[in-house]
Amino acid sequence: MRLGVIGTGYVGLVAGVGFADFGNDVVCIDIDEQRIARLRSGEVPIHEPGLPELLAENAAAGRLRFSTDFADATRDADVILLCVGTPPASDGRADLSQVYAAAETVGRNLSSEFTVLVNKSTVPVGTAERVRDIIANVTDKAFAVVSNPEFLKEGSAVDDFLRPDRVIIGVGPSAGPPGRLLTLSTGEQVDERARAVIRQLYAAVVRKNDRLLFMDARSSELTKYASNAYLAMRISFMNDVARLCEQIGADVELVRRGMGMDQRIGPSFLFPGVGYGGSCFPKDTRALLHIAEDVRLTLALVEATEQINQRQKRLLFDKLLLQLSAREDQPGALSGREIAVWGLAFKPETDDVREAPALTLIEKLVGLGAKVRAYDPVASDTARQSLAASLQAKLSHVEIVDGAYDAVAGADALCLCTEWRQLRQPDFRRIARLMRGDLLLDGRNIWDPSQVRAAGLRYEGVGRR
Ligand SMILES: NC(=O)c1ccc[n+]([C@@H]2O[C@H](COP(=O)([O-])OP(=O)(O)OC[C@H]3O[C@@H](n4cnc5c(N)ncnc54)[C@H](O)[C@@H]3O)[C@@H](O)[C@H]2O)c1
Repeated sequence: MRLGVIGTGYVGLVAGVGFADFGNDVVCIDIDEQRIARLRSGEVPIHEPGLPELLAENAAAGRLRFSTDFADATRDADVILLCVGTPPASDGRADLSQVYAAAETVGRNLSSEFTVLVNKSTVPVGTAERVRDIIANVTDKAFAVVSNPEFLKEGSAVDDFLRPDRVIIGVGPSAGPPGRLLTLSTGEQVDERARAVIRQLYAAVVRKNDRLLFMDARSSELTKYASNAYLAMRISFMNDVARLCEQIGADVELVRRGMGMDQRIGPSFLFPGVGYGGSCFPKDTRALLHIAEDVRLTLALVEATEQINQRQKRLLFDKLLLQLSAREDQPGALSGREIAVWGLAFKPETDDVREAPALTLIEKLVGLGAKVRAYDPVASDTARQSLAASLQAKLSHVEIVDGAYDAVAGADALCLCTEWRQLRQPDFRRIARLMRGDLLLDGRNIWDPSQVRAAGLRYEGVGRR
């Protein structure tokens, strides 16, 4: 099949490379010329395990190309995948300007007799219809819009794409000369050609196990938000339980394991920590609240999930203040203090720092006058860019170093924010020798408190006895 992919971020690039690997002819488009130039020269602009190898193979085989010209992507295309960003607007709603702009440009360039527009971006309910209207305004060609939310996880995106738990397909509205229409259980009539094209598109993924679930576009759009909000809710729930553990002398690590052994609950997403971040959970929970608000509903659990997470992202900062006998309402309370931070990415195996708890911590520490020395195995550049925007002139208070132990030299405290594999078993005696202070704050509960204490250091985790 001939595919055009619009947007070469985490989702678009992985989808483009993945579909090319299934033997399709793929053209990836972005408005970011620099990004396309890097991709053309074989450079992968994001950190995603396995992606550079797969990209190189498929580009060399001539199945994968990169362009800034939309006509390249739409020419004779069977499928166009919309994978542009839907960042939060200032009020927390999803900002759909990238989706609408991309849809209109795609519409103007449609050249096939029938094209399926597959929306992989996370978008509010009703967006498929809006996209259909935008495109129908600028073309006479026949097309159908399909909602196909993406569920990949950064850090294991390639594997998730090649072996998805499920593929949700919301067959939405079509326009132009109609094909054979199919009546869904909801009573909605959809273009049957779109369904056939999508089956073919995902044939390789579902060969062993048919995990395609067809539904209407609105249900599909909501499935994405509801899934993310539910996972975020599990994390916030455990963070609340961890807080309770600290007050009543229980150990959340034992509680978590005990809960996770129940097959009805399962062990995933029960890890307490410094709060969830990234480009999806925070923005998607907030956007879901707005979707409900627009029909005058309150989603109390989702609201609480978000509030708990805001509190949790302050956790290490509050613990530090307490341990260093400093108060937030005293300007400069941490001046003269040096704090080491390990882990800047919002989770391991990615360089994505969007809404990362580590950055919130660093901004707060610098705000109270501390100097920060930070280390991350891959997210140094993205973190530096993000901190430059938020700290501006105070960026000089943060040094991002190349080695984990370089960060702790002379520090009063060490805060672990991301559970990178290479930070799980550090040499605590070496840390003790290098530090000026003796406080270790383990924001992910990955260290053994007895080992830390045996090195003469003080240990603080999250909800641990
Ligand atoms: N990152 C994830 O883990 C993840 C997972 C599932 C779903 N999603 C969703 O998928 C969507 C994309 O996420 P992402 O993380 O890949 O975003 P991203 O911000 O990393 O990438 C978006 C890309 O689209 C490009 N773009 C913007 N407007 C364009 C236009 N008009 N034409 C062509 N290109 C354009 C941007 O330059 C950028 O390169 C979002 O809706 C997100 O919520 C993301």
